[in-house]
Amino acid sequence: MTTVAAALTALPAWHALAAHRDALAGTTLRELFARDPGRHARYSLEAAGLFLDYSKNLLTDETLALLVQLAHETGVERLRTAMFAGEPINRTEGRAVLHTALRRPRGDAVFVDGANVMPAVHAVLDHMATFTEAVRSGDWRGHSGRPIEHIVNIGIGGSDLGPLMACTALAPYAHPRLTMHFVSNVDGTHLAETLARVDAETTLFIVASKTFTTQETLTNARSARDWLIARLGDAAAVAKHFVAVSTNAAEVAAFGIDTANMFGFWDWVGGRYSLWSAIGLPIALSVGIGQFRELLAGAHALDRHFEQAPAGRNLPMLLGLIGVWNANFLGAGSHAVLPYDQSLHRFPAYLQQLDMESNGKRVTREGRALDYTSGPLIWGEPGTNGQHAFYQLIHQGTRLVPADFIAPIDTHHPIGRHHTLLLANCLAQSEALMRGKTEAEVRAELSAQGLAGEALEALLPHKVFPGNRPSSTILMQKLTPATLGALIALYEHKVFVQGAIWNVNSFDQWGVELGKQLAKAIEPELDGSREPGIHDASTAGLIARIRALRHP
Ligand code: F6P
Repeated sequence: MTTVAAALTALPAWHALAAHRDALAGTTLRELFARDPGRHARYSLEAAGLFLDYSKNLLTDETLALLVQLAHETGVERLRTAMFAGEPINRTEGRAVLHTALRRPRGDAVFVDGANVMPAVHAVLDHMATFTEAVRSGDWRGHSGRPIEHIVNIGIGGSDLGPLMACTALAPYAHPRLTMHFVSNVDGTHLAETLARVDAETTLFIVASKTFTTQETLTNARSARDWLIARLGDAAAVAKHFVAVSTNAAEVAAFGIDTANMFGFWDWVGGRYSLWSAIGLPIALSVGIGQFRELLAGAHALDRHFEQAPAGRNLPMLLGLIGVWNANFLGAGSHAVLPYDQSLHRFPAYLQQLDMESNGKRVTREGRALDYTSGPLIWGEPGTNGQHAFYQLIHQGTRLVPADFIAPIDTHHPIGRHHTLLLANCLAQSEALMRGKTEAEVRAELSAQGLAGEALEALLPHKVFPGNRPSSTILMQKLTPATLGALIALYEHKVFVQGAIWNVNSFDQWGVELGKQLAKAIEPELDGSREPGIHDASTAGLIARIRALRHP
């Protein structure tokens, strides 16, 4: 188990990094590149099919050495060993953190409370294999005897975002007969719009919930079940059209799903780390169990790299450490994720939960208030779309926004010049962020266009780009199940490294509870089944207004 780290900001490496940051002030990335033609080669690294170029971050060998020292002083490696070994590092819930066990090969052994969990992991995978093959081949029939054509995953948070993101990313591998749908929002619009696109006779619902008590998911699942029974005219139809993924067999049975059609997982799999478990059932249905195993294998390759590579040559360590440098020393409050791949358009949303639910914490693992910033805001959109929306702020705004550019070298859809243009834009943006455009360059450009005098001086400041904006670029040969698995694992471990350095528990999420409790109290007050309780004036006024104006 890890020892309690000394207060982060009192550590020698922290002090040294602060002094080093001050000494670096005024140094630009342009200068660093001009001084060192080998910068790209030295500050790039490849593992598990992913190539990381981190040379466009504002750092030197000294920065990296101090960051690695910070990792040692904060015990990142010790915590990593504890996580892989199944120690209960999620202390507030008394749980191990073992999503890495889900992608280990058959025959490996991982112990939780003295019991090897690997046989159970592979038993569920085998159950998933049998079931997904039956659905994909058409052997599994709906109540009226027709094969399944639509899969509707009902879940939210980790029981939605991971499978949705991965199914979208791996669409080129999808089964041609199966259309995937995801219903998460308790807003009835989400369910209604989805049901309007499917046929009850050929639809399979997956109710995905680790706890099987989540209000949104249970509400959507009940309404979907009512809809199915009404359409097919027989309650027995549920058996062929509903399966569950959960850790809670009792609640699954209470809902009316035969536990033979339940795919289990374990409390040591966090919701946002669960796509590797049976929560990945929609992925396995869509791309097949063979490709799902490839996804697991890609993540496992990255796990091995994370466990074994020295900190200074370790992809997740480097991404995590550079993130700490940018956030805690250079003042970045957010981090943009910019995939240059349309099929990764849900990746930033997925990472929002992974990162912000993990490291959006305000106290240390020992419960003391942090005196430094923890997890940044994570946001992003695919390129090139984002270029025409928010990149302006990244280039010329007053905030520092470090960015990750992610791109496959080859595309699944080679149409004309599209992919060359996409990649050119990706590289151009990170180059522009790094270089910027100096006053002298703008002046020369405007003069060449025939501008002079007051007109030139007036335009000049608007056209200057400060540059010096940090970014990393992640390339892969092609977006395949294996490279996607490695990419997701890379970010999981990056989040782990940062949580370890900030000394927060990255594996609980108490911050989501208060709103849930209050919603339960307000619900009956809104529909009039209970008189409003004591609220602040704003909430009371809003409740009164909705009650007065709402149509039944
Ligand atoms: O409310 C947050 C949360 O607990 C997430 O951590 C989780 O992924 C999501 O809700 C869904 O939970 P469940 O899978 O238990 O329905």
